Amino acid sequence: MIEALKKLESDAQGEATLVSDPKLLEELKVKYLGRKGLFASFSSQISQVPAEERRAAGQEINRVKLALEALFAAREKALESKGVLSARRLDTTMPATFPELGSLHPLTQVIYDITEIFRRLGFNLAEGPEVETEHYNFEALNIPLNHPARDGFDTFYFEDGRLLRSQTSPVQIHVMERTKPPLKVIAPGKVFRPDATDATHSFMFHQIEGLMVDEGVSFADLKGVLLAFAEEFFGAGTKIRFRPSFFPFTEPSAEVDVHFPSRGWLEVLGAGMVHPNVLHGVKIDPERFTGFAFGMGVERMAMLKYGVEDIRHFFENDLRFLKQF
Ligand code: DAH
Repeated sequence: MIEALKKLESDAQGEATLVSDPKLLEELKVKYLGRKGLFASFSSQISQVPAEERRAAGQEINRVKLALEALFAAREKALESKGVLSARRLDTTMPATFPELGSLHPLTQVIYDITEIFRRLGFNLAEGPEVETEHYNFEALNIPLNHPARDGFDTFYFEDGRLLRSQTSPVQIHVMERTKPPLKVIAPGKVFRPDATDATHSFMFHQIEGLMVDEGVSFADLKGVLLAFAEEFFGAGTKIRFRPSFFPFTEPSAEVDVHFPSRGWLEVLGAGMVHPNVLHGVKIDPERFTGFAFGMGVERMAMLKYGVEDIRHFFENDLRFLKQF
């Protein structure tokens, strides 16, 4: 009997190593270890073994049983690691694993929110280049070469004389060159200034420019549009005020403040009536058409709305900050 058990063991080893299909391996296991399998017949014959050999035979039966179980387990594992069994082992009751979802950057969200408000007020989306000429960033906006106002709009220059735009106002010029009034556009984008970085300054930030030109557009239209925007963006009942100011491309010009109950009046944007020189430069008759324009800083709007204290948070890519939006 012991001989027969040894033969059974080596037969099983030989067959098991040849099998590479999990189904066949399962069948083989049944053939050897199943309730009516080859091995089972040995256990049932133990009573017929002469008493003096019975102890040794019993030990051999136990040893071979463990050996066969280990053999099939190892073979299954080997097939599984090749991926053959993995489908069969898929446990569909396990909790699913989800890929980590990204989200839009808070500045992108704020740009979408603001442009959407103006789109509902009838403004079309416009875009202009980030690399500009002096003409579009300055001259066409009524900022002459030696005018002190240039300092406020200083920027980065390329060797060929082109520059990174320091404001989105040049988009006004591009739009008016290719579209004649009536026109209403909203133009978000990046702007650049050689400022030292601190809690409120960055060498790159975002602005949103607005422009409306038609017959009979007045300062009252500007006020109405900006009040509607402020109430939509900061909440119903938000108060705004206009302070006289100066921009070369508008006349009259104003700075607009929003009232925050906890912090008082805070400046949020510049605005005014498009300067006749600007209209004239793009061949729109300032005697017939008038318009208003405004420009706001996106980071500033986002900081005010969400209570962000430092502009650098937007650019450091720290997920602890970004995940809050
Ligand atoms: N471009 C100005 C700036 O960067 C903001 C601005 C002020 C835009 C008045 C306008 C405007 O369109 O009318 O500070």
